[in-house]
Amino acid sequence: MASSATSFRSLSLIGVSLLRITAAAQGPEQLSLALTANGPTEMAIAWASMDAWSTATSGSVTWAPTASPGDTASASATTHTYTGGLGWTGSIFWATMTDLTPSASYTYTVESNGNRSAPFTFHAAPLPNASATARFAVLADMGTIELLGFEVAAELIKEHSANPFDISFISGDLSYATVDPPNFEIQQLWDAWGRQDEPFAATAPFMMTVGNHESSPGTITNASGTFPQEFAAFTTRWQMPQNGRGNYYFYFDYAPARVVTLNTEEDYSTGSAQWNWIEATFAATDRSTYPWLFLSLHRPIYSADADEENAHIPGGALSVALEPLLLKYKVDVVFEGHQHCYDRTASVYNGTVMGLPDASGTYTSPPATIYINQATSGAVMDSKFITPTPAWSLVRGTTYGFGRMTLATEGASRTLRYEYVSTNGTVVDRWAIVKSAA
Ligand SMILES: [Fe+2]
Repeated sequence: MASSATSFRSLSLIGVSLLRITAAAQGPEQLSLALTANGPTEMAIAWASMDAWSTATSGSVTWAPTASPGDTASASATTHTYTGGLGWTGSIFWATMTDLTPSASYTYTVESNGNRSAPFTFHAAPLPNASATARFAVLADMGTIELLGFEVAAELIKEHSANPFDISFISGDLSYATVDPPNFEIQQLWDAWGRQDEPFAATAPFMMTVGNHESSPGTITNASGTFPQEFAAFTTRWQMPQNGRGNYYFYFDYAPARVVTLNTEEDYSTGSAQWNWIEATFAATDRSTYPWLFLSLHRPIYSADADEENAHIPGGALSVALEPLLLKYKVDVVFEGHQHCYDRTASVYNGTVMGLPDASGTYTSPPATIYINQATSGAVMDSKFITPTPAWSLVRGTTYGFGRMTLATEGASRTLRYEYVSTNGTVVDRWAIVKSAA
């Protein structure tokens, strides 16, 4: 539970956030880029307008190389809306920019129902490149006003403005619109979250992993009709790469990295459809092209949080189903959420410590996966940790913030350098992986 002091702080900020909630014009808003399944020549864009579905008839995206603004191209959008929770009146648009030159800078606007957005600039994704440098922002369990998602977003945006991230991803529990999943969802909190994140989401791809707080039944409506839909807001507001099962599980590539996402809210047990897909995706990953292989999932495989302890210690269902795959396919890092704290583990398999970092936090050629829970991105933190501390749990934290991760090649080594950054920009934890580039 939040203390009375933090509750007061939260209440005092609700007024500010309500302004954001109610300040919508009819124009395009909440722009959010995403990679597609077709590689660096494409970038998907989704946005919302507060136009009712009955009047939301058309939308489009227009883009041009930033260096050649007259060389425009455009694509029309598909239109969607949904119902869920306490209801929502608005429209969602999906469009895809195509024939992009990898790594090139583009400037674009979107238009819906005669209203055009401000211009935004992004870089097309680079070609797969084992030696490339890439900078990621890592989030989980964010929200807006419960409690400090807006502060984490503000710090991320501040850094992104000065030194842009190439890509961001969040390991579930996005807006906390679903206060009591799956029963009570306030759609306007989705809008507030989309507005909060637009400065980074409209200028670099923002990739979503589903969490339990995305669970809310409803219906979706598109050009084909109206259909019942679980996770109605989550599946309607964005289109993630269509190479798995919708927005529920998929993978994306960025230069030297492949990130596989998993849905912990559906069957992941050994031999299930999702498990089979994950194994096939790991097996098909060429590690000479993608030396970094990550898994993003919401409920953690390892966390030292005492809450729901049996679900995230060795022997838990996630551990039993997934650890053999993570070891077999040499997955470097699992990014997790759900337990509202920060966790960093040893290189660990089934509870056995397989490798430890040096005093500076550097893991050299770790023999098994490292688990990072970055569920510090805004949701209320009230963690009590397992005692005595398990040998596999190296660092725990309860400071609001996000992860800053840089992948690079340094001499004969591939390096992953990670910093857990607080809302005032200080580094709470710093660690690295160094492994041979051979
Ligand atoms: Fe969660």
